[in-house]
Amino acid sequence: MYNSRISGLGFYVPENVVTNDDLSKVMDTNDEWIQERTGIKERRHVVKGTDTTTSMGVKAAQKAIERAGIDKDEIDFIVFATLSPDYYFPGPGVLVQRDLGLKRTIGALDVRNQCSGFVYGISVADQYIKSGMYKNVLVIGSELHSHGLDMTTRGRGVSVIFGDGAGAAVLTREEDTSKGILSTHLHSEGQHAEELSLIAPGMGKRWVNDIIEDNDPEDTSYFPHMNGQFVFKNAVVRFSEVIMEGLQKNNLGPQDIDMLIPHQANLRISQFIQKKFGLNDDQVFNNIMKYGNTTAASIPIALTEAWEAGKIKEGDLVVLAAFGSGFTWGSVIIRW
Ligand code: UT7
Repeated sequence: MYNSRISGLGFYVPENVVTNDDLSKVMDTNDEWIQERTGIKERRHVVKGTDTTTSMGVKAAQKAIERAGIDKDEIDFIVFATLSPDYYFPGPGVLVQRDLGLKRTIGALDVRNQCSGFVYGISVADQYIKSGMYKNVLVIGSELHSHGLDMTTRGRGVSVIFGDGAGAAVLTREEDTSKGILSTHLHSEGQHAEELSLIAPGMGKRWVNDIIEDNDPEDTSYFPHMNGQFVFKNAVVRFSEVIMEGLQKNNLGPQDIDMLIPHQANLRISQFIQKKFGLNDDQVFNNIMKYGNTTAASIPIALTEAWEAGKIKEGDLVVLAAFGSGFTWGSVIIRW
């Protein structure tokens, strides 16, 4: 058995900055409400025709591969997490393989676990490496939310939160099993599937043909729906549980955390967790203020920024934790 370690990190966000004031020009919202409820000051939106979920993932991945100090031909497998793929099918994993010019027939897996997608992706990659099947696995989280949101007052409870961007990590075989990814912990509760969801078009309740035939301007089924307060209440409980589960599995406690990277869902959720575990500001990294909630991309973007800022050093205990649609949630415990 081996461990896996994160050998390279990268992120990419589109240049176009959209401030809270910009949003208040197209819907009834304001900077004060958004900052008070979420901590978000601005986010990035792709300008049509420039980037896609795949192209952002490719740019983040290029950086991660370069920093891993390996040739792209050494990538054995791709894991791509997103809820906003370029195409309904095929998923973006194979598009990255093509556009990045990775080895021609390596496997590519698409993960559909929304905000927990990157944590699920890391867990999958870790198992492949632990078992000896692969040596270098590329894990990407990328989202292009901005052009699938209801940018009117009707959609303001959701639309002001989400932003575009991508993050990537290369996981590499580590022979020293006291280092790298120590454990991963995954959960779901499908009972609440519709509380944070995008129903259409799908092969369940709203078929493509239904939408075309109805041609109803009041139809919101193809916009994301979120029962915000219910999601919030579940998030704070599940984040806490899954972080503790990971720590306990490794005979560690909250005081041992050097850096917690929570999925950037809402600054108030991160602050709640920080307070609950008695962590100081240096032990938790947040960048939702700049990028909003980028779903599967939020953890790898934040992890990369924290690492670039020198906030993660060799030997540190790093904890990743996510919660979101599904509901799904999970944590990753890393000895850096
Ligand atoms: O990433 C996956 C996991 N996601 C999360 O964890 C998100 C969890 N939930 C949240 O972060 C919060 O619930 C939100 C930030 C989404 C919403 O905050 P809230 O404090 O729960 O607000 P609310 O939805 O209860 O709405 C309160 C009021 C409503 O007005 P009334 O009915 O009290 O008159 C809304 O219509 O705020 C209104 N409102 C807005 N006002 C200005 C909702 N969105 C906006 C807006 N600007 N953008």
